[in-house]
Amino acid sequence: MTEKSLLNLDVKILRLNENTIIQSFDCEDKDLNDFLLNDSKNYLNSRLSVTYLLQSKEETVAYFSLSNDSLIKDDEETATWNKINRAIPNPKRRKAYPAVKIGRLAVAKKYAGMGFGKLIIMAVREMYVNEQQRSGCRFVTVDAYRNALPFYEKNDFRFLTTKDANDDTRIMYFDLMLTVND
Ligand SMILES: CC(C)(COP(=O)(O)OP(=O)(O)OC[C@H]1O[C@@H](n2cnc3c(N)ncnc32)[C@H](O)[C@@H]1OP(=O)(O)O)[C@@H](O)C(=O)NCCC(=O)NCCS
Repeated sequence: MTEKSLLNLDVKILRLNENTIIQSFDCEDKDLNDFLLNDSKNYLNSRLSVTYLLQSKEETVAYFSLSNDSLIKDDEETATWNKINRAIPNPKRRKAYPAVKIGRLAVAKKYAGMGFGKLIIMAVREMYVNEQQRSGCRFVTVDAYRNALPFYEKNDFRFLTTKDANDDTRIMYFDLMLTVND
């Protein structure tokens, strides 16, 4: 079989630790490559983010990093916040909600378009919806690169504000309770 498919690749999700041997990785974005190879363990040791690897026997297929975050109201974007609030019971509505941030997410160029990005989003939801909660976490957030906006939109992420419409990255969010209710 010449065409690579997600189903016939033996890929495991591993939590990076101090002793993890990071296999080669290239997503064609220097910052994202550098973070994985040179900084992900420093971030782990400093408790700034935890990185997870999708690893085959020979190489890193993809990776993502998670950190605690807050989804914070933009006072000038009331309509968006009202939409977010509609899913929260009235007495519990706030100007900020607990969230987990996808700080970095990258798929190796040779594996792009095969569903690994989508698989990672599903894995993050699974981690925060089905596993026992260690702390309250309602939303997933991401500062999405411009080229990846359609990817996140397809995965049900929404824009928090229009203020960043022309920026290099845009804040997007996903309500974890949607997965439970849908
Ligand atoms: C963006 C990225 C994470 C997507 O991962 P991927 O494994 O290639 O995406 P998937 O194969 O899971 O695609 C899932 C869906 O998103 C769509 N999609 C993926 N990348 C897209 C893009 N750049 N533009 C438009 N749609 C895109 C796919 O067509 C697919 O749609 P479908 O569900 O209708 O079939 C990956 O291409 C990547 O790592 N790019 C370089 C680094 C980067 O930009 N990271 C994002 C940092 S915020």
